[in-house]
Amino acid sequence: MASVIWGLATSHVPPIGAAMDSGRTQDPYWKPLFDGYAPARKWMADHQPDVAVIVYNDHANFVGLDMVPAFAIGAADSYAVADEGRGRRPVPPVAGAPELSEHLIRELIDDGFDITTCSRLDVDHGLTVPLSVYCPEPGDAWPCAVVPLLVNVIQYPQPTAARCLALGKALGRAIRSYPRDTKVAVFGTGGMSHQLAGARAGLINTRFDRWFLDAIEHDPASLAALSREEYIAEAGTEGIELIMWLVMRGALSDDIVRVHETYHVPASNTAAGLALFEELGG
Ligand code: DHB
Ligand code: FE
Repeated sequence: MASVIWGLATSHVPPIGAAMDSGRTQDPYWKPLFDGYAPARKWMADHQPDVAVIVYNDHANFVGLDMVPAFAIGAADSYAVADEGRGRRPVPPVAGAPELSEHLIRELIDDGFDITTCSRLDVDHGLTVPLSVYCPEPGDAWPCAVVPLLVNVIQYPQPTAARCLALGKALGRAIRSYPRDTKVAVFGTGGMSHQLAGARAGLINTRFDRWFLDAIEHDPASLAALSREEYIAEAGTEGIELIMWLVMRGALSDDIVRVHETYHVPASNTAAGLALFEELGG
């Protein structure tokens, strides 16, 4: 049977990807952030999954605002890297795991989560930057296949944090019921506090971020109890991306250890955070 071997939470700030793509990771601005990633990257390289389920949001780059599913899963053989207006990032296309995708979609629908199926999907920075955080030098191919799981965090009303945690629990059950010996890592992406536009543009809330980073391990229920309005008030309009970390957390058991965490301000307009958990329960 398949197992969940670890969970990674990480911000997906586009300039983090751009810094890697243009060889600027040792610049004084970026070095502290990338130094913070190093121990997590080494651990993940030593604990390679077969498949990563990457919980992420599209930023109206491929999934237009004409139709925004609350939750969707990619079911393709592979995913092209989206052109977000400045050409595609120079990273490999993303190999899919369509058989696992189909299993997860069916199990989640049977469990009461009405998932949209994406047979074609170009993946934007919300997915490719976390892949680069995990694997900085993929060469011609990423080290594992990917199942993209999309969450609407850009158009009101977004799913509640409680619903995201419940989805994660159902996702964990669905992964563990997959009848193949597949090692799965789950990524929760986006966050931490940031607001890109409006009167509060540039907002960073370190107190909230630190509390969230701590509670995601031992007390995810307290994070699931917050309303979408509370997320936006505390963490900014884009800080609501943090609800995607709860999907990842829900897929893990309570038998986890925190392998590494790092928090850095600022990365572009964002408080960048990373938390890596090893699953001991399988
Ligand atoms: C930034 C952060 C994001 O989450 C995003 O999707 C786009 C830009 C930023 O801080 O620049
Ligand atoms: Fe974003």
